[in-house]
Amino acid sequence: MLTKINHIGVAVSSLDESLPFYRDRLGMAFMGVEEVAEQKVRVAMLEIGESKIELLEPTAGDSPVARFLEKNGPGIHHLAYEVVDVEAAIAKMLADGARMIDETPRNGAHGTRIAFIHPKSSGNILTELCQVAHR
Ligand code: CO
Repeated sequence: MLTKINHIGVAVSSLDESLPFYRDRLGMAFMGVEEVAEQKVRVAMLEIGESKIELLEPTAGDSPVARFLEKNGPGIHHLAYEVVDVEAAIAKMLADGARMIDETPRNGAHGTRIAFIHPKSSGNILTELCQVAHR
């Protein structure tokens, strides 16, 4: 069902302050910034080999990432596995009795379709299933 780790989501207070570490000090390829209005975040993607780091900056106080930052401070927010077919992956998770935050896919950054598994069903790690856009 899973093909690889697509990205690791990292909650940050400020993209401007966080980007130089990943882009300049660690030397990752910066792929750009995109706003995902549905989730009230600005997302910066950095490529590292086959995987990516997704920096998440909240754009509103009631953004889920803003609430995460209040509770935990900056740090790893979620782990995203790539799947070929996100609908099939959701159906399999539900059939296995897993609790899903998203029972239907929502739109992620860069044209992806994503669904989050509830941390209660994924070892307390917020886990994203991520289907990349067809090119
Ligand atoms: Co993500």
